[in-house]
Amino acid sequence: MTNNIIELKNIQKYYPLDKDKLHVLKSINLEIKKGDFVIIMGKSGSGKTTLLNILGFLDRLSEGEYLFKEENVTKLSEKERSKFRNNNIGFVFQQFNLIPTLTIYKNVELPMIYNNKYSKEEKDKRIKNNLEIVDLLDKINQKPLELSGGQQQRITIARALVNDPDIIFADEPTGALDNDTSRDIMELLKELNNKGKTIIMVTHDQDLVKYATKIIRLKDGVVVEEL
Ligand SMILES: Nc1ncnc2c1ncn2[C@@H]1O[C@H](COP(=O)(O)OP(=O)(O)O)[C@@H](O)[C@H]1O
Ligand SMILES: [Mg+2]
Repeated sequence: MTNNIIELKNIQKYYPLDKDKLHVLKSINLEIKKGDFVIIMGKSGSGKTTLLNILGFLDRLSEGEYLFKEENVTKLSEKERSKFRNNNIGFVFQQFNLIPTLTIYKNVELPMIYNNKYSKEEKDKRIKNNLEIVDLLDKINQKPLELSGGQQQRITIARALVNDPDIIFADEPTGALDNDTSRDIMELLKELNNKGKTIIMVTHDQDLVKYATKIIRLKDGVVVEEL
């Protein structure tokens, strides 16, 4: 027994490139514990998003091993991967990825439609609870573009939480926000972390490292620092 929620063992990631291949992640070893607030740093092109997508079951690794909650998930089928994703992980993206034609209510409901686990009443309760957590219950019938950037990002956090995942993955969640709004989002993520959610976040904003319990610095696909 370890209390690692995530473990990578010597993974490599290649992207096909004409006749050649691009080596994007190089011999990465990683251990993330339940309750960690992990920040992945590095310049543009260093492999941060690729790493996050592999950890979040959005992409596959090329070589090595991935253990998730001590289960070897290296070779799952597409279908098994989406199940893992839906049951365990919530995603927050830089550009929010809300659907502009749907109300806030419907946007937050989406992850529950994919997994089809809850009754109508239970879904309703979860949508409202999570909108309350991000303090935007009053926007429930509005559309995403009627909200500010910071509010939209809080909606995506409600959406990420609605299936009650253990882990929140956030790729540059403050990248499109001004400083004050970024701080609000970081405080919200910190609050969720204090309540027990594991957070794995990518940023290139050096000021945000104070929120981390673990910092991973990538350079050209190599972990050059781990604190
Ligand atoms: N789907 C893809 N196909 C080919 N190359 C890619 C793909 N995604 C990313 N890359 C390349 O992999 C490298 C790492 O990209 P990425 O993980 O997006 O870095 P970061 O998020 O740190 O900016 C870059 O050189 C990028 O151009
Ligand atoms: Mg990126």
